[in-house]
Amino acid sequence: MKKFMKGLLATTMVFAMMTSLVGCGGSEEAPAEEAAGTENTLVMATNAAFPPYEYYEGEEIVGIDAEIAKAIADKLGMDFAIEDMEFDAIIPAVTSGKVSMGMAGMTVTEERMQSVDFSDSYAKGVQVVIVKEDSAITSVDDLFAEGASHMIGVQTGTTGDLYTTWDLEDAGLAKVERFNKGADAVLALTQDKVDCVVIDNEPAKEFVAANEGLKILETAYAEEDYAICFAKDSELTAQVNGALQELIADGTVQAIIDKYISAE
Ligand code: ARG
Repeated sequence: MKKFMKGLLATTMVFAMMTSLVGCGGSEEAPAEEAAGTENTLVMATNAAFPPYEYYEGEEIVGIDAEIAKAIADKLGMDFAIEDMEFDAIIPAVTSGKVSMGMAGMTVTEERMQSVDFSDSYAKGVQVVIVKEDSAITSVDDLFAEGASHMIGVQTGTTGDLYTTWDLEDAGLAKVERFNKGADAVLALTQDKVDCVVIDNEPAKEFVAANEGLKILETAYAEEDYAICFAKDSELTAQVNGALQELIADGTVQAIIDKYISAE
């Protein structure tokens, strides 16, 4: 409890300080190499291994973020393109101006706000813990308990990585194993190479549904706001955010979310 709670509290405070920012996405992409650099193309950087926000359906990147971004581009009269990359390459791509914005179920954090600006928030996320059905880990507290030595799988550079790393450092344990994709962390769990995976709730549900013998712990680890990120002081931020606000107000964003996430 103690040390972990300290980390969680700090995390919660950061969230309270930030409350909401936003994001948008799109879906009919032109090849990004052609599109990037053309003034009138909104180029979204993402990591398309994060269903239902962004993932491949055949050759095409689909999902909540992709569709919201496309709707924003349409509203702004811009062409739209998606560039798929590792999650931890998104912010560098945004700050270097290689892409117009980053949208990847990306959580607003104080740390990221040092390097990028965020839109209003368009969705909530929850960090959850996936374990095997017969796991000895039954709650989030178990992960950080005195003497615990569980191996935690995470996707590199995500909040699941950042928070568990902080909390484990607090507890004097270093047991985070990083994977390029959430699905790879889940595969490692099915092979007993890690004891659990900390990841966002909606992808967690999809990964658990796709693999036998896994479950999500009932206790959540952290709550977060997803938003779109931009290079600091980019002119696009206000434009995209304005379009996003309209799409939230007229129900488009909710309709897109409902299309991908069925009510429990
Ligand atoms: N919400 C988490 C974060 O911002 C995970 C996002 C991972 N997104 C992805 N497209 N792989 O760190």
